[in-house]
Amino acid sequence: MKQAVADAPGRVNLLGEHTDYNDGFVLPVAITQRTRVTMEVIEGDTVEVHARELGETVRFRLGEPPSDHFASYVYGCLMLVKERGAQVPGLRIEVSSEVPMGVGLSSSAALEVATLRCLRTLLSLDLDDVVIAQLAQRAEIEYANVRCGIMDQMASSLAATDRALLIDTRSLERRDVPLPAGSAVLVLDSGVARTLAGSGYNQRRSECEAAAQALGIASLREVTSLQQLDVLPDVQKRRARHVYTENARVMSALDCQDARGFGQLMNESHASLRDDYEVSTGELNLLVDLLQAQPGVFGARLTGAGFGGACVALCEPARLLEVADAVLGKYNGQGHSGKRLVPA
Ligand code: GLA
Repeated sequence: MKQAVADAPGRVNLLGEHTDYNDGFVLPVAITQRTRVTMEVIEGDTVEVHARELGETVRFRLGEPPSDHFASYVYGCLMLVKERGAQVPGLRIEVSSEVPMGVGLSSSAALEVATLRCLRTLLSLDLDDVVIAQLAQRAEIEYANVRCGIMDQMASSLAATDRALLIDTRSLERRDVPLPAGSAVLVLDSGVARTLAGSGYNQRRSECEAAAQALGIASLREVTSLQQLDVLPDVQKRRARHVYTENARVMSALDCQDARGFGQLMNESHASLRDDYEVSTGELNLLVDLLQAQPGVFGARLTGAGFGGACVALCEPARLLEVADAVLGKYNGQGHSGKRLVPA
């Protein structure tokens, strides 16, 4: 019986939000929670996918796309590998995941990357980690209908848990960036659900494309000054201003050895996502305000696409759990159901 197993982590983005589909810079770090995929070759041409946490089993054949959301990611990966010439046999696939779903920690990228890694082993495919990330992104765009950038899949495929990964999303060049000395990452879920496809994500992307077109440039990465944006209508101008200032914040973070300076950039990122990019919510703002006011926190912001989901903070390591308890106590005291996600 031919079998393979592989896994891949979720990620949390420290800085560089909504910059990836504008050819910009991102700074994610992998989280310890992983998604694991097991595949077993079976007779016939049916693929059977069982998602343990969802308690669901979906069956399909290649060429007959499943309607279930989680199965579409797996289906997309299989189709893309087939398109590259691989013979995809009948399969029994088991998916189990510790990555929190739908909160901005890239559970879908972890599923795509783990699926592709498993196929690489099972079918002896010649795919490097960057190609895996690129195929994973295509699976999401072409089969799950989210016009995402490449950050999540690159992070899941290439990032480590103990340092951030700077990615230039235009060239895909990357380099390790240590976390500022004396700091650790805390992630809290706002408890507000977020569906990426149903959200304004694709709309934000279109607004950025329209702004770049109006400016006569290939992408907002090429903006060189804030004055350049003065010709744009208000909404496009604010979207473009976020992308320009956010790319600058990622660059500043690289020179910033101290946690306080890094945290300040995270605070500024949140303000920009809230006011210029308009992807925050009342709950995310409350959670971020509570985090920023807490002793032991260097900085905090929403992380991922926004519209709900999680917040990330940079904290003094010794006070991580104390900060989480204090902030969640106040947040949940106002009727919300936040929880700690990282550290798990
Ligand atoms: C989602 C997308 C990423 C990126 C972020 C926002 O996670 O999948 O490509 O655009 O939102 O930074």
